[in-house]
Amino acid sequence: MTSTPASLEFSAPKADKQKQRRLHPLPLRVMHWINAVAIFIMIGSGWKIYNDDVIFGLLHFPDWLVIGKWAQHGLQWHFFGMWIFVLNGAAYLAYGIATGRFRRKLFPISIREILMTVGDAMRFRLRHDDLTHYNAVQKILYLGVMAIGIMIVISGLALWKPVQFSALADLFGTFQTIRLVHFLCMAAIVGFIVIHVTLALLVPQSLLAMLNGGPVVDDGEPPGEAAAEIQAH
Ligand code: HEM
Repeated sequence: MTSTPASLEFSAPKADKQKQRRLHPLPLRVMHWINAVAIFIMIGSGWKIYNDDVIFGLLHFPDWLVIGKWAQHGLQWHFFGMWIFVLNGAAYLAYGIATGRFRRKLFPISIREILMTVGDAMRFRLRHDDLTHYNAVQKILYLGVMAIGIMIVISGLALWKPVQFSALADLFGTFQTIRLVHFLCMAAIVGFIVIHVTLALLVPQSLLAMLNGGPVVDDGEPPGEAAAEIQAH
């Protein structure tokens, strides 16, 4: 039996630390697609409930776009979707924080990077071919939609149980203000989905990566960066 050289014994734990994983690990992909289905249910049923007592006189959602035969039916779908959205969303936020994914992929965001990305976008030169790196606009969109997701749940709780959550409801002012905030959050999420899905379809390999996990990376870092880090140590 040959003995292991001391230098190799020393380097083994380091190699272990640099875990090889997919760009989008399986739990992330599962949570992403569960979220997409939950959002679809929430928006479709929310539109049915809205139609029953509209906020903006002229705005009604067509019957073929809504979920639920009657408002009460829409409400049941809405609560069903809510549990999936809240539990899955909480799991996604916990996963993103605990694994360091948010820190690695969504931070830091520098003003310089934002200006450069916006400048590139205005000249139609926005690059989206490096799947391992989110540009500043993507980072802001992803963080923004998470913040709006939290706000829509908070305003939804105040609408659902205004007596039990009266302190929360009071923060918004009137019941009608809570409805308006909830509606505007929905509108922002719909806007996000339109941009997000358009980009995913324009860069089909990003869509494929959200299905099959994408390239293997070191601890979520692009292979180049991870290798540079190992050399630097
Ligand atoms: C059917 C609709 C959807 C499609 C086709 C889709 C597709 C994708 C794709 C391809 C990515 C990877 C993007 C990239 O690597 O550049 C992604 C990431 C992401 N999507 Fe979606 N998505 C959908 C719905 C949604 C919805 C409804 C939300 C939230 C309201 C959402 C939030 C996110 C977030 C936060 C990420 C970043 C995940 C991370 O890297 O941690 N997506 N999506």
